Amino acid sequence: MKAVVITTPGGPEVLQLHEVEDPELKDNEVLIKVEATALNRADILQRKGMYPPPPGSSPYLGLDCSGTIEAIGKQVSRWQVGDKVCAILSGGGYAEKVAVPAGQVLPAPIGASLQDAASFPEVSCTVWSMVFMMSRLSAGETFLVHGGSSGIGTFAIQIAKYWGAKVFVTAGSKEKLAFCKNLGADVCINYKTEDFVARVKEETGGKGVNVILDIIGAEYFRRNLDSLSFDGRIFVSGTAMGGAITEIDLRVVLSKRLTIQAVSSFGDDMNVNYLNSSEHGSELICLCYVVLYNSVCKFVN
Ligand SMILES: NC(=O)c1ccc[n+]([C@@H]2O[C@H](COP(=O)([O-])OP(=O)(O)OC[C@H]3O[C@@H](n4cnc5c(N)ncnc54)[C@H](OP(=O)(O)O)[C@@H]3O)[C@@H](O)[C@H]2O)c1
Repeated sequence: MKAVVITTPGGPEVLQLHEVEDPELKDNEVLIKVEATALNRADILQRKGMYPPPPGSSPYLGLDCSGTIEAIGKQVSRWQVGDKVCAILSGGGYAEKVAVPAGQVLPAPIGASLQDAASFPEVSCTVWSMVFMMSRLSAGETFLVHGGSSGIGTFAIQIAKYWGAKVFVTAGSKEKLAFCKNLGADVCINYKTEDFVARVKEETGGKGVNVILDIIGAEYFRRNLDSLSFDGRIFVSGTAMGGAITEIDLRVVLSKRLTIQAVSSFGDDMNVNYLNSSEHGSELICLCYVVLYNSVCKFVN
């Protein structure tokens, strides 16, 4: 098969199409003939050599894919050859074929193209698990997502609005903020020209927001804690953009009874484990149907 290979760490020019071995199919896996894959920030970091793939996973880029099942492993009963699917991967989407554990596969949403479907698994697993399962965002609460126009942000805005939350976003330009507003964001903050802590306080009558999804890391951590309400929850999903080391006043955490959670993004260990557990895998499949069949979220470019 052909795959996009990282010849050496660097810019997009280091990517080359090479002839490589077909993946070997394990008993618990399906083999997908790839129609489309996605571009996540993690792919860019991997290309630059900053995110080595987890041991045992494909050396090729690509954390999502869509396509048609070409073969099934001996233990797989949930899928059949010919099924149109999308899947979350530990890598390997930038290839003509990928072998993936059956539990990481979702039905391709009816009404969406396979190209669009390839952008769904990674962001939906990430946002659903971090914001709703672990940070327990509820209807009527306030929610701040940094990088509102990112892949994560665009999904988070739409699903949080559907859930009944008031959504705050940060982004770096007027155009991006207008785009977020169009997706349903209630409070749009330009992080380059405004202090998001002051704006959050102003918009919440001094209380702060209930939940923050942070993609920045150290640079925002202290200010995020200042932006949370009593009993607030923050989920840190990465440090690549804002660094890993910072100092905080723990009294802020204690006095506001804050919950801090985080997970390393790479290899999607969390997402993969999450989807592979039958309870959460089914939940994600239901979400897939709710979101797509009821037009709760639209695919955006
Ligand atoms: N832990 C996990 O399981 C997991 C899974 C998926 C993704 N992630 C992480 O989530 C992050 C987003 O991923 P993605 O693929 O959605 O990224 P993306 O589409 O590349 O977007 C990155 C965003 O960051 C925003 N940004 C940069 N500096 C900012 C700042 N100082 N304040 C606010 N926003 C800022 C950019 O907004 P502007 O262009 O407006 O500046 C842009 O929208 C990445 O760090 C990724 O590693 C983690």
